[in-house]
Amino acid sequence: MSELLQGWKRTCYCAELGKADVGREVTLMGWCNVRRDLGALIFIQLRDRSGLMQVVFDSSTLSEEDYARASTIRSEYVLAIRGTLEARTGNMVNPKMKTGEVEVKVKDFKILSVSETPPFEVSDDTNAGELLRLKYRYLDLRRPVMQKNLMMRHKIAHIAREYFAENGFVEIETPVLTGSTPEGARDYLVPSRVHPGSFYALPQSPQLFKQMLMVSGFDRYMQIARCFRDEDLRADRQPDFTQIDLEMSFVEEDDVMAMNEGFLRRVFKECLDVDIPNPLPRIKWIDAMNRYGSDKPDIRFGMELVDLTDIVKDSGFSVFSNAAKAGGSVRCINVKGGSHRYSRKEIDAEGEFVKTYKAKGLAWMNYKDEGIQSPILKFLSAEEMAAIEARANFEKGDLLFIVADQNSVVWASLGALRLKVANKLQLIPENSYALLWVVEFPQFEWSEEEGRFMAMHHPFTSPMDEDLDLIEKDPGAVRAKAYDIVLNGNEIGGGSIRIHSAELQKRMFKALGFTEESAQQRFGFLLNAFKYGTPPHGGLAYGLDRVAMLICGAGSIRDVIAFPKVQNASDPLTGAPYPVEQKQLDELHISFKDLED
Ligand code: AMO
Ligand code: AMP
Repeated sequence: MSELLQGWKRTCYCAELGKADVGREVTLMGWCNVRRDLGALIFIQLRDRSGLMQVVFDSSTLSEEDYARASTIRSEYVLAIRGTLEARTGNMVNPKMKTGEVEVKVKDFKILSVSETPPFEVSDDTNAGELLRLKYRYLDLRRPVMQKNLMMRHKIAHIAREYFAENGFVEIETPVLTGSTPEGARDYLVPSRVHPGSFYALPQSPQLFKQMLMVSGFDRYMQIARCFRDEDLRADRQPDFTQIDLEMSFVEEDDVMAMNEGFLRRVFKECLDVDIPNPLPRIKWIDAMNRYGSDKPDIRFGMELVDLTDIVKDSGFSVFSNAAKAGGSVRCINVKGGSHRYSRKEIDAEGEFVKTYKAKGLAWMNYKDEGIQSPILKFLSAEEMAAIEARANFEKGDLLFIVADQNSVVWASLGALRLKVANKLQLIPENSYALLWVVEFPQFEWSEEEGRFMAMHHPFTSPMDEDLDLIEKDPGAVRAKAYDIVLNGNEIGGGSIRIHSAELQKRMFKALGFTEESAQQRFGFLLNAFKYGTPPHGGLAYGLDRVAMLICGAGSIRDVIAFPKVQNASDPLTGAPYPVEQKQLDELHISFKDLED
């Protein structure tokens, strides 16, 4: 039976109390975390969102009736406790607990709510699987680590609102039921009841609206915006996720980046007490690819890619020379000291691993005490070997992995292998944060699937001034005024300076394969807006979930989202998505074909 509050008020949170408060009369409210019944004494750890407090029910001071009531308390019962804060003495002190030097001697209490035995233990070291935890997410969220994560996420969002407001940004909401805002993923569609056969699209980002707000003169806009993308889920991707989104007028790349470095500086200082470099390092996209094989390089460790193409372009080993002649490259990573850390079997496993990145093979050289071992040694001349050793700083004890292919394959496979090796050999320092900007992205990337150039960032990104002439002549060579912010090998945000002329925007749509009619049909409203006085503008959006994940040291963005979805985009808690009633479908004029059950 649940008791009522009857005017009881909480005086403070559990973990706010310490030795300095001894003697205070307190009223605490929270959940029974752990209970120990010693016969004449009952100890309970009371849990609230701040932490834990030990409370003691003493049969010698409580009435018989109250003590009997106390002995019915079980895990996850909701309690209100009134009592005196006392110091713990001797071996009663628990140094592992934040409030381990004190406890509350109960004078009066209420059992506000009882609980069934929970399906898993509400503790940080629960061994419940993620699916079960997500089904009972409201219990999972009681765990201290989840409380900490969501509180940290709140703090980051709060700093964003504070920082950007201080800098003159206006928070403006943009619609969720809207038309398509393309960011390279599939849209989530919502059927319209009033317009049978027509659909809203949920925004992949507020991109078009924030640009129109610049046309409206709002100058500096920010929003903590929900975005929706129907794409394959990963540890760092959810179908609905949150951006810290911003846009500024009368700015160039450096202005946007400087403003955002100020924000990041504050987040790192206030959340982690870490001072980040000022200014943050920048790397051009092409250099990031050549050195790290990634457009989101993890620079917390070395093992950079080394280009061997010129050395082996005329080699007798045709795998290498053919790749070079075909316009590709031959590159390697040198795993320093790797010779002693890798068995032959493990080397072969890396060969299989790079195949998932379309590499046709992985050549290796193992510099053993007795000399270099390699299946390709016989194909290379002494000069070539000497040049490779010098270029790659290949020394006794080292292990070299080499891939020859077209550049995109070499980058992707060695970039991924570099990370895999670093994790295996634990080369990445813990609790370190490496932020950097990646700049000068290509404007376009060729899509084999679509047989046309696609926007690498989005179609509204401005090309670099010096490359404007190349849009029609050599699209592949056009660089964009785009920048990504990368933290520990994760893309946490990205943005660009936008096209603000209707003419240039039309050229861009044309280069992307839109006909004038199709561009007008989809984005006519934006092209129209640009006709009425558009300031130069640019902006950026962070993935709040990713920022929070990295700041919290969590392994997945699911751990910083209150109610996330699982791999197949469903929600184990609510069961969504699920079939709806025929009546609703009829109202929407929807019927299904070919639906398998
Ligand atoms: P972009 O598409 O790069 O840019 O998105 C910005 C940031 O959002 C995060 N993000 C995601 N996080 C979780 N789950 C997802 N499915 C997901 N997709 C993206 C990433 C990414 O860096 N409108 C532009 C921004 C701009 O140009 O101002 C945009 O949306 O951290
Ligand atoms: P092969 O002569 O094809 O047996 O290859 C000899 C060695 O070269 C093997 O160790 C292969 O894994 C490796 N190899 C094959 N193709 C490539 C490639 N594209 N890049 C790097 N190494 C390769």
